[in-house]
Amino acid sequence: MDSVKSEFQVSITEAVGMISDPDSLVRVVLSGQRRAMSPPYDRIDIRPVSIKGKLLLQLMENDGRQTTTRNLEPGALNVVELLTSGFANILVETTTGSLTVKITKKGEALVHREEGQREQNLDHDRVKSRLLSPDDPFLREVGIADDQGRIKPSKQDKYKQVEEFLRLLAPTLTAAIEAGHIAPPTEEKPLSIVDLGCGHAYLTFAAHQYLRSVGVSVHVTGIDVREPSRIRNIEIAKKLGISSTIDFLAEEIAQTSLTQADVAIALHACDTATDDAIAWSVNHDAKLLLIAPCCHHDLQRQLKDAPEPWSIITKHGLMKERLGDLLTDALRAQILKIVGYRTETIEFVGGEHTPRNLMIRAVKTGANPDAADLSRYKELTAMWNVVPALAKRLSSRLDRLLK
Ligand SMILES: C[S@@+](CC[C@H](N)C(=O)[O-])C[C@H]1O[C@@H](n2cnc3c(N)ncnc32)[C@H](O)[C@@H]1O
Repeated sequence: MDSVKSEFQVSITEAVGMISDPDSLVRVVLSGQRRAMSPPYDRIDIRPVSIKGKLLLQLMENDGRQTTTRNLEPGALNVVELLTSGFANILVETTTGSLTVKITKKGEALVHREEGQREQNLDHDRVKSRLLSPDDPFLREVGIADDQGRIKPSKQDKYKQVEEFLRLLAPTLTAAIEAGHIAPPTEEKPLSIVDLGCGHAYLTFAAHQYLRSVGVSVHVTGIDVREPSRIRNIEIAKKLGISSTIDFLAEEIAQTSLTQADVAIALHACDTATDDAIAWSVNHDAKLLLIAPCCHHDLQRQLKDAPEPWSIITKHGLMKERLGDLLTDALRAQILKIVGYRTETIEFVGGEHTPRNLMIRAVKTGANPDAADLSRYKELTAMWNVVPALAKRLSSRLDRLLK
């Protein structure tokens, strides 16, 4: 117990040091509740802000119903008292790394430190930088906002995921249009976007509303296998008066009747539905893909005999699972590269909003793969004795290139 306590105390001292340097602090998130303790709020987000040239700490305190914001002189905040007031999760990010402390139900402190560069955003008016106006009626209709236009606490994470997804879509789209990969949209020939595995269509409606609000002519199609989702979503589109520029299909992605889209997006399409989404995009010549995968079971099932010395990792179930996730997404990205897409993987939203926060972003360039990329793919799949679901779906195209 003493060592647990001291681990907690050491991490608190470290966190206090990080928070006390407003020149490098990026943000602090305090959330959750330790057993038998009552932190003052459900969640507090803290970050440095510059107001009239003065560096202050902005606290956004959420009590489960609403968020209030106040700005304090750094010296006016009792950091130790706050960090020890009963929050179960403490995240501190600076420009050079992060510290995560999680207190388990048994009172154990799990501490994780990571190096990595981040930028400070000292802009004090967050509302200004929002892409989606919280009072846009679509947020209420899809169930993200309440009747007063306030984001529901239970939907804060989804709202954030959608907002950050759009934040990446917007500049990527502009760059693809400027580079000539996508034709500039017009009223006659709007930009076509498909949201594959759209579910309740939070992202589908958001992409439509946001792009139209910045003057982009767009037609959006949401595809989901569930008929009740289609019925619900077309009703919402009718209520919003946007049925002519957004539609929904209740179809399997792999068998959809849709034949074209400039941009394909997918947010957490389940397991190999993500592979269906990527394969559909490649086969239908989509120019831009933004795909945030969900659960990864396909390769997990195939990772039986790890090539040595990798059993050092795979003998631990948790790490085997994470390795399987990484291998799946790395191979998806590599396949996209091989079939002519410039591909990168990025974190599209902070891990506190969803652990599934990796995004594969790919722009079609039509470039031929080089020999090294082909042999890396062949070696990695041979070494692990796996055939990724995406490779099966794109086998005719891929086999030709891999020969
Ligand atoms: C986890 S939900 C995500 C929904 C939405 N994109 C979001 O982020 O809120 C996954 C959705 O994918 C749909 N889905 C799963 N497999 C599919 C498939 N093969 N074809 C079409 N839709 C599928 C499910 O019905 C479900 O609505």
